[in-house]
Amino acid sequence: MMNDRFELHHAPAPAREAEALLDAAFGLSRRTKASYRLREGSSPLEDLSFHVRHAASSRLAGVISFWPLRVSPAGVPALLLGPLAVHPDFQRAGLGTVLMNAGLGAAREAGHGLVFLVGDEPYYGRHGFRQVPMGQVLMPGPYDPARLLYHELRPGAMAGVSGLLLPEWRWRARHEAAPDNGSGR
Ligand SMILES: CC(C)(COP(=O)(O)OP(=O)(O)OC[C@H]1O[C@@H](n2cnc3c(N)ncnc32)[C@H](O)[C@@H]1OP(=O)(O)O)[C@@H](O)C(=O)NCCC(=O)NCCS
Repeated sequence: MMNDRFELHHAPAPAREAEALLDAAFGLSRRTKASYRLREGSSPLEDLSFHVRHAASSRLAGVISFWPLRVSPAGVPALLLGPLAVHPDFQRAGLGTVLMNAGLGAAREAGHGLVFLVGDEPYYGRHGFRQVPMGQVLMPGPYDPARLLYHELRPGAMAGVSGLLLPEWRWRARHEAAPDNGSGR
């Protein structure tokens, strides 16, 4: 329970409810976005998934999830945050902030150091996200580099990190199959 109107749950929301909320918040074209490339073949981390319900109606009001990444070639572990979404009927009531604080808090407690996302710096800047210095870290494209943001859960976690963001499973498949092929990516 977070207040009389809304309940925070530490669990993923049921898939169809969550999909309908994301369509309402981002529009149907959301699935073409670059961040979806980084989620293909992966599942969100269950212990970092939260959702909020409107207490009176039980309607799903907001969701947040995180996905495992590696920065190739060195394989530095990181998280992809997203989607964070609040249904238009419930926006500007502080739910985005509640979900963000819950998610980042759980990630920090679990020992994660570095979080990336693709989104609006004016919004995510409020939550400690900064633009990735141009070219330091890349995503499988196409994407707008000005919207690739990072947040250090562990101070200094971004220092010296560079390369291409990949889903963790893709990095592992590449490196465990040919650990010293020297190809770099
Ligand atoms: C972005 C989002 C998660 C915020 O959720 P929320 O519950 O409304 O957020 P909060 O109530 O904690 O904060 C609202 C504040 O963020 C601001 N804000 C919301 N979206 C913003 C954006 N894209 N850029 C800058 N500020 C933004 C609001 O203007 C409001 O400002 P105020 O506190 O000065 O009134 C929600 O609006 C959403 O799901 N939007 C649809 C998807 C989207 O546009 N995402 C943008 C980032 S990729």
